[in-house]
Amino acid sequence: MQFPLRTLVSLALLSLVPACLAADMAPLKVGEIASLTGKEAAFGQSSHKGTLLAIEELNAAGGVLGRTFDLVTEDNQSKAGESATAARKLISRDHVSALLGEVASSRSLEIAPIAQSSKIPMISPSSTNPKVTAVGSYIFRVCFIDPFQGTVMAKFAKNELHLNKVAVLTSVSSAYSVGLAKYFKERFIADGGDIAIEQKYSEGDKDFRSQLTAIKAAGVGGIFVPGYYTEAALVAKQARELGITVPLFGGDGWEAPQLIEIGGSALEDTYYSTHYSPEDSSPAVQGFVKRFQARFNGETPDAMAALGYDSAVFLADAIKRAGTVESAAVRAALAATKDFTGVTGHTNIDANRNATKAAVIVTIKDGRFKFLKTVAP
Ligand code: PHE
Repeated sequence: MQFPLRTLVSLALLSLVPACLAADMAPLKVGEIASLTGKEAAFGQSSHKGTLLAIEELNAAGGVLGRTFDLVTEDNQSKAGESATAARKLISRDHVSALLGEVASSRSLEIAPIAQSSKIPMISPSSTNPKVTAVGSYIFRVCFIDPFQGTVMAKFAKNELHLNKVAVLTSVSSAYSVGLAKYFKERFIADGGDIAIEQKYSEGDKDFRSQLTAIKAAGVGGIFVPGYYTEAALVAKQARELGITVPLFGGDGWEAPQLIEIGGSALEDTYYSTHYSPEDSSPAVQGFVKRFQARFNGETPDAMAALGYDSAVFLADAIKRAGTVESAAVRAALAATKDFTGVTGHTNIDANRNATKAAVIVTIKDGRFKFLKTVAP
C-alpha cells in the first residue's frame, strides 16, 4: 500500500526546489518500510512520523549535495512476508537509493538479504537483534543491540530489584523476543541468578493463563517478558488477575502508549529498557520534542519516533560525507560513522555496523511512563 503523504511531500518539493528539474538534481528516493497498520501499528506510525519530520527538515534546509529527498513509504501491515515484498518493490520499481526500516527485528530480517544482494544500504532505526546487521556489509542500524539490552535488564533485576529467582516468558515466533530472552538469561545466570522457569507463547496469542499459572507455582521473585506491547500488556493484566504480585519487566518492545491503554493499572511498577526518554532535558531532545509536537498535533515522540528521525539524518550525514549518492561510497561512509550526534545520543558505528549507545530504563507510575535512569554502554 502506498502511503498518500508521499505525493504531498513530492508536490511540496517540486514547488520548493526548481533546481531539481535537472535530471541529476532530481529528488533522491529513499524507501521506508513500516508497520503503519495491523498489530504493531504503534511502532510503524511512530517511526514513520520521526522519519518524515527528519526528511521535511532536511529538505527545508536544501537537502544534501543539492538534492532533496523523496520518501517513498510502504506499509507491511505488521504481516510476515510483506516487508520482503515491499523491499523488492522499492528497489525495482522506485529505484530507491537507500532503505530505512524496519522496527521489528523479524521484519528487518526479511528486508536485509534483499538490500544486501541489491547493494542498497539499509538502515534499521530500531531492530535490536544481532542477526539483522550480520546479514551483510550494506546493513546498518542506529540503535544498540540485544546483548547489551539483555545485560542492562539482567543487572537491573539483580542489583536494583534485588531478584535472584525469576521466570522468563518468551514469544517464540519473534526473533527479537527469542534473542533478548537468551541474552538476559546468560547474564542473569552468570551473575549468580536462577531462571526457575521458562514459558513460551506466539505473536497474536491472547490467553497466557496456563503459562502464568505454572510461573506462579514456581514461586519466582519477578517475571521477564521480552515481547511486544500488546502481549506484554495482556500478560500483566492476566498475571495480576491470577494474584501474581511480583514485578514484571521487559525490553524496548514494551514501548507504546497502547501498553498502558491495554494493561491499565496492571502495569503499575513495571519496568522496561528503551532508547531515549522525552523527559531528557538536553537541548537536542527538547528541541526535537517541540518540533515533533508542532508537526504532529501535540503528540509526544517516543523511542521509535526518535530513532526513525535519527535514521534519516544518519543517512543524510553519510551521503554528505561520501560526496556522492553512489551506493558503495554511501555504504563506506555509513560504516565510517563516528560520534554522530542525534536525538538518541551519540552513535558510533562498530565493525559489525551496529551502534554503541546508552539505554534508558522507564517505569510506570500512576498510569504514566516515568524516566528512571540512563545506563551507559
Ligand atoms: N527492538 C525491537 C525489535 O528488534 C523493536 C522496537 C524498537 C520496539 C524500539 C520498540 C521500540 O524487534
